[in-house]
Amino acid sequence: MKIQKVGVVGCGLMGHGIAQVAAQGGHDVVVVESDPKALETGLARIDKSLAKIAEKAVEKGTPKEQAEAARAAARARLRGALGLETLADRDLVVEAIVEDLDAKKRLFATLHPLCRTETIFASNTSSFPIAEMARAGGRPRRTLGLHFFNPVQLMKLVEVVRTADTDPDVAAAGFEFAKACGKTPIAAKDTPGFVVNRLLVPFLAEALRMVERGDASAEDVDTAMMLGCGHPMGPITLADYVGLDTTLSILEGWRSRHPQEPVFAVPESLRAKVRAGLTGRKVGQGFYRWQGDKRV
Ligand SMILES: NC(=O)c1ccc[n+]([C@@H]2O[C@H](COP(=O)([O-])OP(=O)(O)OC[C@H]3O[C@@H](n4cnc5c(N)ncnc54)[C@H](O)[C@@H]3O)[C@@H](O)[C@H]2O)c1
Repeated sequence: MKIQKVGVVGCGLMGHGIAQVAAQGGHDVVVVESDPKALETGLARIDKSLAKIAEKAVEKGTPKEQAEAARAAARARLRGALGLETLADRDLVVEAIVEDLDAKKRLFATLHPLCRTETIFASNTSSFPIAEMARAGGRPRRTLGLHFFNPVQLMKLVEVVRTADTDPDVAAAGFEFAKACGKTPIAAKDTPGFVVNRLLVPFLAEALRMVERGDASAEDVDTAMMLGCGHPMGPITLADYVGLDTTLSILEGWRSRHPQEPVFAVPESLRAKVRAGLTGRKVGQGFYRWQGDKRV
């Protein structure tokens, strides 16, 4: 089961990166958007990123013509489109649309009659059960999670998520695809948050609960984890960086599906910040103040 023709749905933050690394990995790629402006922006980001990669390769000693040829070849393997029917002949379709379970289920249900019966469906969701999308998409044996990390061009990990129904050959094809994209795949089951977010999100929540209880200040919790554990960023800074609304929505989703799981409890301070519109770095204020990407 060799993946050659790839479709990516959504050309936002994640989708443009997935389309790019797939093209760099030698695949024929179509990236589909519902919003023409987002498609234009996403393709411009890909052009910029590929040009930067070529520039860096030259700095490291690759002959200019060779670097330029690699850039042009990757770009030539990728095209943008506005209609899902362009995905009919794909071996693999990866969705990277908004984090909305109903929207993802609707998308797979629409894709099912459009695509070949062999087409593998994958979701890049960070927090929803793959099995629910697989049922809506009508081909559970050929559906899996391919969870890339932000920024896709730099982050090396892909979580290959299999449900109870995913065909082992489909999971193996997902592994090979991730490797061809220059990534290191790991195998994960379809459990909340897979591996990375299951550990990370409750860690951020527990840091906030410590501050709520008055065990330590936010600054001291962050300093402790940086100097005591070698983390590049403390958990509360990281929550601001990722977006407090994103963290809240992940936790609330898990809590509603698994009310008995104590580590999914939602810290009140997180709710309060989001209610006040202080969602972190992107609005300049969360638990800390931000100027652009810098904490001030
Ligand atoms: N942002 C992250 O750090 C991150 C990391 C890992 C995984 N994810 C997951 O990746 C997915 C995408 O996140 P993002 O940050 O790239 O979002 P984004 O908002 O940047 O991009 C989503 C894009 O999908 C498009 N879109 C929405 N519905 C569509 C449809 N039906 N058909 C075609 N295009 C459609 C939108 O126009 C938008 O451009 C989400 O499931 C998210 O949870 C995000």
